[in-house]
Amino acid sequence: MKVVFAQPGLPKSGCLAVGVLDSGILTPSAKDVDAATGGAVSRAIAASRFSGKADQTLDIVAPAGLGVDRIILVGLGKADMVDARRAESFGAAALVVAEKGTGSELTLAIDVLAEAKLSAPLLAAHAALGASLKGYRFDLYRTKLKAEDKPTLKTVTVTVADPAAAKTAWAPLDVVAEGVSFARNLISEPANVLYPAAFMKIAKSLEKDGVSVEVLDEKAMAKLGMGSLLGVGQGSDCESYLVVMRWNGGNPDDAPVAVVGKGVCFDTGGISIKPAGGMEEMKTDMSGAAVTTALMRILARRKAAANVVGVIGLVENMPSGTAQRPGDVVTSMSGQTIEVINTDAEGRLVLADALWYTQETFKPKAVIDLATLTGAIVIALGNENAGLFSNDDTLSKILTEAGQEVGEPLWRMPMGDAYDEQIKSDIADMKNVGGREGGSITAAQFLKRFIQPGVAWAHLDIAGVAWTKKALPTSPKGASGFGVRLLERMIATHYETVGAAKPAKAKKPAKKSGKK
Ligand code: BES
Ligand code: MN
Ligand code: ZN
Repeated sequence: MKVVFAQPGLPKSGCLAVGVLDSGILTPSAKDVDAATGGAVSRAIAASRFSGKADQTLDIVAPAGLGVDRIILVGLGKADMVDARRAESFGAAALVVAEKGTGSELTLAIDVLAEAKLSAPLLAAHAALGASLKGYRFDLYRTKLKAEDKPTLKTVTVTVADPAAAKTAWAPLDVVAEGVSFARNLISEPANVLYPAAFMKIAKSLEKDGVSVEVLDEKAMAKLGMGSLLGVGQGSDCESYLVVMRWNGGNPDDAPVAVVGKGVCFDTGGISIKPAGGMEEMKTDMSGAAVTTALMRILARRKAAANVVGVIGLVENMPSGTAQRPGDVVTSMSGQTIEVINTDAEGRLVLADALWYTQETFKPKAVIDLATLTGAIVIALGNENAGLFSNDDTLSKILTEAGQEVGEPLWRMPMGDAYDEQIKSDIADMKNVGGREGGSITAAQFLKRFIQPGVAWAHLDIAGVAWTKKALPTSPKGASGFGVRLLERMIATHYETVGAAKPAKAKKPAKKSGKK
């Protein structure tokens, strides 16, 4: 889908979306359309339940007096509440209605609203973002899609008084939209296609965007003592990998921010095998890694003025004659030993070594991990919030705020020594599961044991939000890409140093190995 910005004016063809405020107050474009159609807009509103409430839509097909195929009225709610999110849902809602037709063009007219929270060019750019995100499809494996089921929209034109300014505002958002699609593609791919080596190769391809990518294979990880991560992959015929992606766009002397993603390309549960029902969903167990990789691609493509390292642990969790057994004891890179009570609690085993390696190697100023870690977080928070676990109030605050801004909400969960008690082992330093109670918290306590003193850390349990069974305001059902926009926004707001936009020479990483 192509996005263009143009001067205001009524289009001669395609679909035209205009905004209507609460209580049916017409925006300037809606008024123009009403006049051009001899009052069709006012009459349509009067004859329907549409009142301009946020996200309501009303569709006027083949109106007389205008060349367009349909006029789409989109509710904007109260003018002083119109912000970036509202502009995005304007674009997204218009797109959904436009897709009911067979046209190839959609024009979005989100007028300058004096009371709006955002400038006109930004509103225009965010409307384009909403349409772009909502228009995502994963049709790769549909060979029999009927013509009438195929999307026909080719161009979205956003009209705005200053198209050049809107285009400038759109450039970084375009990169973000592309990044979200990239993450969604990775998450949607089945595990026979996107196995660890295939994922590794895609991550490696970020080199052409200027990301430096280093790949550690099983041999390299064994040398570093990553018994925890390797134990998870040992039952699979697939080689496991740790992929390290670095973008150094910031001040060369600044310590990086690290993002660590769980990349379990398929999670059968291993010997502690999962029930068959719904197991196919475990192809999404690499969502944390997908989000991390997409984030790195975005930062590089928009030449972010920040130093960021993305680390992903890529494994497949399979039962087999070589698989690890419940009761096995593994030694992690940190030197700490783990009794593997349940082989299905594998994400934390992967992250234990990935987190340790990241801190040892890069001495980051903050570490954020993303993982589809527990079913328990889905029980606690449903599909509406991701769980946030952290040892740092400031990091929690800036992550939560960024999430609010982009519509990827986080809910902070408690941590504490009492929970940590649950993962004491009789024969090793810890075991990999507690009881059923507070399962997402004991998982976080486990990760915390691999965070070095003084390191600000946040863990996002995205098990309930990575995949959506229902369409969301700016996502069709399926892979949401939750976390990409949040982290991109958080880094843009808090870690980008003005005037350091050129990627710096890659710094030599600090000493690599190091058992405690
Ligand atoms: N990948 C799963 C968690 C998950 C569940 C992700 C639902 C997405 C949707 C994770 O590896 C897992 O199996 N966790 C177990 C932990 C248990 C054995 C302590 C779980 O949540 O049941
Ligand atoms: Mn599991
Ligand atoms: Zn898992």
